[in-house]
Amino acid sequence: MKIDSLIVKGIDAKDNPNHAVVPPIFLATTYVQDDLHGFQSFAYARGGNPTRTNLENLFSKIEQANYSYAFASGMAAVSAVFSLFQSGDKILLNNNVYGGTYRYASNLFKDRGIAYELVHDFNELKAEDLDDDVAALYLETPSNPLLRVADIRRLAAIAHERGKLLIVDNTFLTAYYQNPLALGADIVLYSATKYLSGHADVIAGLVATNREEIAQKLKFLQNTLGGILNPTDSYALIRGIKTLSVRLDRQEENTNKIITFFSGHPGIEHLYYPGSYSQEEKEIQERQSSGHGSVISIRLASDYDQDQFVAALSLFDLAVSLGGVESLICPAGNDDA
Ligand SMILES: Cc1ncc(COP(=O)(O)O)c(C=O)c1O
Repeated sequence: MKIDSLIVKGIDAKDNPNHAVVPPIFLATTYVQDDLHGFQSFAYARGGNPTRTNLENLFSKIEQANYSYAFASGMAAVSAVFSLFQSGDKILLNNNVYGGTYRYASNLFKDRGIAYELVHDFNELKAEDLDDDVAALYLETPSNPLLRVADIRRLAAIAHERGKLLIVDNTFLTAYYQNPLALGADIVLYSATKYLSGHADVIAGLVATNREEIAQKLKFLQNTLGGILNPTDSYALIRGIKTLSVRLDRQEENTNKIITFFSGHPGIEHLYYPGSYSQEEKEIQERQSSGHGSVISIRLASDYDQDQFVAALSLFDLAVSLGGVESLICPAGNDDA
């Protein structure tokens, strides 16, 4: 099934109780055991909840993954993934990685004996640059806020040649446009708060992998750290995902009009969108993604007043975050979303 069908039909109504068209929300925190020795599929709901499982199974189909885990926020997903590493490990991150992820690395890695290095341009990284202590490459492509693009397939190849993991934060495109696992990444993760939820009303995170040993650890971490997605938000995310393709199609169409309007406009000193940085990045973007999404960044010309510009917008609200149906604008360097 193609992804635009999967997002709607990925959960088969015939598998729902009473063949309900949408899966019910299971609120129970615990499930009755058959006897002293036998648990059913679900026991205590931190470990597993049918609504969350529905979402995780749907997400596995969308990402072409064998295993998926839903978390209480994108940062809870990032934290679980970072918990896979231990003292002595080093992680390479984009130099303009999402601010919250950088906040984690710069504040919490040291106490755990984990090192990190910021990579200016992942496209220049070679296999021989990967020292023995590097455990993983952590990549956002496109990155936030400069929309820099890196070659997932090439990075997966060099990472694997040297026995390292490639982790991709795919928040800015989703599997509708780009599938990191199919391109060779070991782990894909999301702030599902953004496009996947799509309506600015759910905070959520998702992680998927095809590697069983990583999946087992993630399952353990999900249950042990406890930052699980609750049943109502799992349901809301299933509902949001159903319109992912139509939302992204329209959002990208609108964004293309804005890109055309801004290109060469005297008020815009610099316009950034995925592939705008260089011909090389444009080619990578077109090769590995079927679309560029709806996030762009601008630098206003020096004789344009930022406050006046923002105040004059009628359709854009001044607020952090992205990926919802509302149009938002926020100053670069705001680490909160
Ligand atoms: C690329 C990226 N990753 C992760 C996160 C963290 O997600 P959340 O806000 O859902 O915790 C964000 C939030 O903006 C993000 O933009």
